[in-house]
Amino acid sequence: MSNSTVELDPRGQGPDAPWHLTGSRKPVFDEVTLTELEIKGEVPRDLNGRYFRNTANPQTGFTEHWFIGDGMIHGVELREGKANWYRNRWIRTPMFANPGVDRLKLALDPEKFTFDHAVSAANTHIIGHGGRILALEEGSFPYELTPELDTVGAHTFGGKLAGSFTAHPKFCPDTGEMLAFGYAQLPPYLTYYRVAPNGDLIQKEEISVTGATMMHDFAATRTHAIFMDLPAIFDMELAMQGGMPIRWSDDYPARFGVMPREGRDADVKWFDVDPCYCFHTLNAYHDGEEVVVFGMRVPEIWRDSAAMDMSVTPPKEDQPRLHEWRLNMTSGAVKERYLDDEPAEFPRISDAVQGHPMRYGYALGIGDPTGAAMGGKVNKYDLRSGATRESHIFPAGHEPGESVFVAREGGTAEDDGYLMTYVWQPETDTSYMVILDAANVADEPLAEIHVPRRIVSGFHSSWIPDPR
Ligand SMILES: [Fe+2]
Repeated sequence: MSNSTVELDPRGQGPDAPWHLTGSRKPVFDEVTLTELEIKGEVPRDLNGRYFRNTANPQTGFTEHWFIGDGMIHGVELREGKANWYRNRWIRTPMFANPGVDRLKLALDPEKFTFDHAVSAANTHIIGHGGRILALEEGSFPYELTPELDTVGAHTFGGKLAGSFTAHPKFCPDTGEMLAFGYAQLPPYLTYYRVAPNGDLIQKEEISVTGATMMHDFAATRTHAIFMDLPAIFDMELAMQGGMPIRWSDDYPARFGVMPREGRDADVKWFDVDPCYCFHTLNAYHDGEEVVVFGMRVPEIWRDSAAMDMSVTPPKEDQPRLHEWRLNMTSGAVKERYLDDEPAEFPRISDAVQGHPMRYGYALGIGDPTGAAMGGKVNKYDLRSGATRESHIFPAGHEPGESVFVAREGGTAEDDGYLMTYVWQPETDTSYMVILDAANVADEPLAEIHVPRRIVSGFHSSWIPDPR
């Protein structure tokens, strides 16, 4: 199917198109299913399921900001050593049905001053939980999809969800629960959610914060949730201009809040941290009296403008780098430090160590001198040996995305498994799914599954195994 009826916006075409609509980020304008895929190497036979990546792919070919295009999922199904298909599908939302129409116009009821949270780009993450596949975007309700990427519709947990739902929930490997939150421009600014393994929303707690911010991610230990209340604040004037309505504030206090998972607002213990922004955490766990949080920290974001152009490489100290915060639950003291000099983003861990002390973290190396605008390597950190780093370096110009770790069937070591991502190759404007051996990350890939067209680089991805 094609959306050829939608007229392309000339601002997204040609040499003057903004960075977020060029190269690997250039949208595709049709939906395909391809079944004859060329494979190099051998696809491990214990990988049975689907790899999905969510991307911003505006139907009109233009958006003001990278983060607001219509969500499109790119998926590959693997079974018993074979790649059954690649397919890409837009998510059918009210924004998809009204291409190019301003989001606020679709979502805001100006008389009641309420928002319709079914109005979503659904473009940030895709996850599996409680037997459902959900596309997530932090300003809206999740969208449920079928395993073949057809849209079921907005998912409200049976009407229990009244507002937005983060694109970065955490999945407890011990209880099977999904921990999440939603943030809003109007009070309550922050609401915490806990979802049972069967998909029932079983806890909803309003959390007191200083004001309306962009809270993209959070963290969770085995027993606590950690909120990052940081100085990227909502600005109504910017919202009325139709762009990204967030700007940096020198006045808003930067704090991390730690709450028992089944706790209440009054139980949150707040810690002042050095002003910063952190789009993504890697993990968090308890170490004696301290809660340790790892994330990709930047000193600030969006002071003058929210424009994003990663081809213009800022100084290393302004780019996201792996950082450690230690929050002492007894004394209230905070210790923090960078763990790596080299910029990286899209941090991931093995699902099995979520909330637990872990040894390994994975991330996309960015600002890389190989010339790949989004970074040409996948990093593996060994946090037990002082955050040393080993990398898989792709051919010059090739652009991997966020890598997902999938445990090998029967594997017991933390890194006994696979790293998978899609890689774009500029010379042919085509892509491939790569499967690396996570224990030997620098080695030749175990397999490449080639797709004879561009898989748009974007945001977050998941491996969703077949139900057992
Ligand atoms: Fe994210």
